[in-house]
Amino acid sequence: MKRNWWKEAVVYQIYPRSFMDSNGDGIGDLKGITSRLDYLKELGIDVIWLSPVYQSPNDDNGYDISDYQAIMEEFGTMEDFDEMLSQAHSRGLKIVMDLVVNHTSDEHRWFVESRKSEENPYHDYYIWREGKNGNQPPNNWGSCFGGSAWQYDESRQMYYLHLFSKKQPDLNWDNPRVRQEVFDMMRWWCEKGIDGFRMDVISMISKTEEMPDGEVHGLYGDFGPYCVHGPNVHRYLREMNEQVLSKYDIMTVGETSGVTVEQAKLYAGEDAHELNMVFQFEHVDVHGKYGKWTDEKMPLSTLKETLSRWQTQLYGKAWNSLFWDNHDQPRVVSRFGNDSPAFREVSAKMLATCLHMMQGTPYIFQGEELGMTNYPFAGPEEFRDIESINAYREWCESKKVSHEEFWPCMLFTSRDNARTPVQWDDSTNAGFTEGTPWIPVNPNYKDINARAELEDPDSVFHYYQKLIALRKQYPLIVYGKYELLMAEDENLFVYTRELDGQKLLTVCNFSEQEQEFVIPEEFRNGECLICNLSNDYSREACVLKPYEAFVLLSS
Ligand code: GLC
Ligand code: CA
Repeated sequence: MKRNWWKEAVVYQIYPRSFMDSNGDGIGDLKGITSRLDYLKELGIDVIWLSPVYQSPNDDNGYDISDYQAIMEEFGTMEDFDEMLSQAHSRGLKIVMDLVVNHTSDEHRWFVESRKSEENPYHDYYIWREGKNGNQPPNNWGSCFGGSAWQYDESRQMYYLHLFSKKQPDLNWDNPRVRQEVFDMMRWWCEKGIDGFRMDVISMISKTEEMPDGEVHGLYGDFGPYCVHGPNVHRYLREMNEQVLSKYDIMTVGETSGVTVEQAKLYAGEDAHELNMVFQFEHVDVHGKYGKWTDEKMPLSTLKETLSRWQTQLYGKAWNSLFWDNHDQPRVVSRFGNDSPAFREVSAKMLATCLHMMQGTPYIFQGEELGMTNYPFAGPEEFRDIESINAYREWCESKKVSHEEFWPCMLFTSRDNARTPVQWDDSTNAGFTEGTPWIPVNPNYKDINARAELEDPDSVFHYYQKLIALRKQYPLIVYGKYELLMAEDENLFVYTRELDGQKLLTVCNFSEQEQEFVIPEEFRNGECLICNLSNDYSREACVLKPYEAFVLLSS
């Protein structure tokens, strides 16, 4: 297996709106980020993935871009950006930009032109179709954020495709001029010195020419088979690689939901000449009656099967990302752990151990390193996220399901759980802002905050710091071969890694009960690299406490 810096790196994702506010307007900003770079350095991460900071009307918090070469006013200026980048670089930290090019904002000048007429030079920058039977959308596809995926435009008198909100029209990647515009823009950022791209829903850029009705799940037809991993996606990514990516020493990661292991080898294969790694969701995807809105937990055996399949089948062939949390997912400690005061810290550390001893590039989402939890939303009026707001409207206000039934699902999975402000200290608004935060601060900030954790050597923060340091110390953690043990066990997640005769054992108790475990002989006199509780791991029979986790190196 080739060694690469991005395989050895640990990434920290910043959602700028909620990270740190420097000027009291209640919205996180670039100066706020710069002011916390020392904190990130102390944690030990190598790369920052910055969620979008470009000019945007914020229909989807920056994932709807109206100018790729300007900074969102609320976040600051291009000078602030340059200062942040150079401050990061001077600390040895890299910055990876979010590249959102499946769609733009409807306020982007390309779309403003495109909708004018069929004669306009930008007319085929987006995906336009005639309606069906006069005034019906071209097909039954539903958008990811509710409603039809088609919007009628009065001036152009046609429908345009938007797989996300109607303010996020999809670009037409089949048009070579669109691809050149995107590649030029990417080069411009690379020349500025940024260190890579996280590519938003990149697996959706190529659509099939025919656009038949999709199978109906829930309320609308599914566009998946026609838009996800479409006919030319690999051709376009190879073109991007040849023209831009291969010219710079940068890191690239593609958000590829619904990707199979075989497809991942095409996107992120060692010699595929597309991207460095995929970011896929199989281990966090639980679908219920209302699609993603569910309060069901994935059984541990399923979680183990999924994670292990990716570990073993990509080994030596392609590279994957490791994550529990991001800005689209609820908080991991509430989801797979236990956020009650008795078990929050121990279960947060257990989950971190489980993930960080695997193969792949680990991603930490802001606040995860503090063990931040889901937010106790009182009602739908507290949501800010377009997906959550629309889903509530579509399912509850239209009376397809009762509030009582739907609400627990929203509480468990809403993206806004991840988007409440980072809890810096126990002062008003958790030290995030001196003004009124754009989204409420979690009321548990007096107990859970960075200042308290920095002072406590046993905190979740210091545990993450140690996990990151171990990855730097042992190539085995980065490059070792993975093997799952006790696949059927519904309480323990146990696996080994092996490289050049050295072996590592990771044991995690996912349950609230004690569990018995027999330590394999080769590890009995081994060194304990990290553990979240103290125990005697030199004995054969070991009784693990609730959420206990430990890692042993073979002797
Ligand atoms: C990605 C982003 C998500 C966004 C969507 C549309 O999934 O992670 O936040 O809403 O794409 O850009
Ligand atoms: Ca601000």
